[in-house]
Amino acid sequence: MWKYFLPTRVFSGTKTISHNNELFREIGTNAFIVTGRSSAIKSGALDDVQEVLDALDIPSTLFDEVEENPSFSTIEKGGKMLSNSACDFVLAIGGGSPLDAAKAISVVGKNGNCSCRDLFKGKDLPAFPIVTVPTTSGTGSEVTQYSILTDPEGSKKGFGMPSTFPRISFLDARYTVTMPVDVTISTALDALSHSIEGEAVNKGQNPLVKMLSKEATKIIKQSLREVLKNENDVSSRERIQFAATLAGIVIAHTGTTAVHAAGYPLSSFKGIKHGMANALMLIGIFERIAKTDPNRISGAIEPFTDLDELNAFLQEFGVGRVSLQLSEEEIEKWSDQTSKASHLKKTPGDFDKQFFVNLYKRIISD
Ligand SMILES: [Fe+2]
Repeated sequence: MWKYFLPTRVFSGTKTISHNNELFREIGTNAFIVTGRSSAIKSGALDDVQEVLDALDIPSTLFDEVEENPSFSTIEKGGKMLSNSACDFVLAIGGGSPLDAAKAISVVGKNGNCSCRDLFKGKDLPAFPIVTVPTTSGTGSEVTQYSILTDPEGSKKGFGMPSTFPRISFLDARYTVTMPVDVTISTALDALSHSIEGEAVNKGQNPLVKMLSKEATKIIKQSLREVLKNENDVSSRERIQFAATLAGIVIAHTGTTAVHAAGYPLSSFKGIKHGMANALMLIGIFERIAKTDPNRISGAIEPFTDLDELNAFLQEFGVGRVSLQLSEEEIEKWSDQTSKASHLKKTPGDFDKQFFVNLYKRIISD
């Protein structure tokens, strides 16, 4: 038994925003634009959006304060600004952080006195319609309901509601060309992680998810090298963008595993980029799953033939060269938290606190 659900309309291609500008009229009359501090401008996406809105006489308000790993205070500030404005839809431009922040801001802004903590109480709340324009290729946030935020204690927390699925996503790979190399790599590894973690959860049960995962992994395996050889080549950027969106559709159905849970503290407290943090955790956790369910892992990593080949691919993109020092306290605290994370319910196999202690110790630099 399986089900497939994706309420997001996806429009892909060069200049897709201007080619499909009439869609904005269907979405709303006044835009609340959410971005980070630079990629929306540097990529040219904000200019393109602004040009289309101006031509349609749609007024807009810009909130450009989203930081990497968006905080509760940023969401509450944006939410308040949205709720005090006349805006009736949210337009998110940027990488995963602005897109995730926009979803949370959209809910907080729509629900008057709602605070960030209310997003995590398991209740479905309404949101303003959300439109996404990704400038990275990795999180899949452009097609998922998920929003990952950082709480005041520094821990990452995720939520998703039916209302936070973007209504429309515009994929124009030209906007991803200006990504720095380390962002290109880490976001692509995040997409790869979504693809194979999602299929590890799915285990072939949902044939559409299986198909999307296999294709996404294949494209990343084939195209990531090409992107790095010629960073300005839009066609190879387009392939990675497509793979990241497919992998996003995968996790919209499956969620992620202990790989993501174990990687979160490395981003929150050590500044390791999210995709790289996943990549550091991936092999150790998949080896453990393979001990009890080898077929699940061989199916999940297709078309990689085994974990050695997957590991060699990750090493090629610098996963083994990440320099990291962790204190005993950090290892203790993070291992305890990770062993209790909700992601563990989706991760088959035997994962206790000691497993994560050993895992974190394994990635410390000599
Ligand atoms: Fe991720």
